[in-house]
Amino acid sequence: MERVNRVALIGTGAVGSSYAFALLNQGVADELVLIDLNKEKSEGDAMDLNHGLAFAPSNKKIWFGNYEDCSSADIVVITAGANQKPGETRLDLVEKNTSIFKSIVESVMTSGFDGIFLVATNPVDILTYMTWQFSGLPVHRVIGSGTILDTARLRFQLSEYFEVDSKNIHAYIMGEHGDSELPVWSHANVAGRSIFDRIHDHPEKYDVEDLDSIFAQVRDAAYHIIERKGATHYGIAMGLVRLTRAILHNENAVLTISGYLQGEYGEEDLYIGVPAIINRKGIKEIIQLNLDPEEKQKFSRSASILKESMEPVLN
Ligand code: 2OP
Repeated sequence: MERVNRVALIGTGAVGSSYAFALLNQGVADELVLIDLNKEKSEGDAMDLNHGLAFAPSNKKIWFGNYEDCSSADIVVITAGANQKPGETRLDLVEKNTSIFKSIVESVMTSGFDGIFLVATNPVDILTYMTWQFSGLPVHRVIGSGTILDTARLRFQLSEYFEVDSKNIHAYIMGEHGDSELPVWSHANVAGRSIFDRIHDHPEKYDVEDLDSIFAQVRDAAYHIIERKGATHYGIAMGLVRLTRAILHNENAVLTISGYLQGEYGEEDLYIGVPAIINRKGIKEIIQLNLDPEEKQKFSRSASILKESMEPVLN
């Protein structure tokens, strides 16, 4: 018999329930267990999702459960924790969410869990580091959503600008999932042309200077959405499903995630957004791009900001 894949989701707030919905709609994973302090909410979500099963592409077992159900999970996805209020940065959440994570990760590990953690709660780079610390799992089995969403936002903005499908645009956002992130223009490519060549192909339409405002849209996207509707959840949820699929289907997909650096990009002992190959084992390899000097400098600034922000929760 084929092995059954189980995903345990901790936190059924806006991000978690959107993740569950997207997972069901995309037919990823065989089993989904919902865990939340608010049992009524996660029980209601499980009932509601089960009622959609008849319309889903594949069957799935969905139930509301507890930490013991993590014991045989392939992936534990954590979306629990406080989110940004209007005007707050992601880094403002570090202390509050670290203490929530301590109890979550310890409870998951007590179940005997020995799979892959996927972390989405902000500040995601720091909470992924804390998950690694609290769990004692190898670094390649603790993954943060990192800049997966920022990269998707960048590809969307570029696809609007160049009028080319975002699937034919390769461009990464690296660094902190937050205000100090950076676009990697030196490796951005539109329909097989470098982004700069593409701009030079049509000087009557495009201008290199526009890249600054395109990036600003990406970096500030969450603030714009939070101002309008209080939270962001669909985009990140779909990014998490993309990661879940890359893991469960052993895809070797290249995605910008929060990965642990051990000398890559001249940095060590931190989790930060980088392109990486993701498969059934977790992070197979962190891709080292040859950043240009300005990008290098921005990346190391972002790394320093993360390290500084982590200090209060490290000891
Ligand atoms: C986002 O970027 C708030 O981190 C969340 O949508």
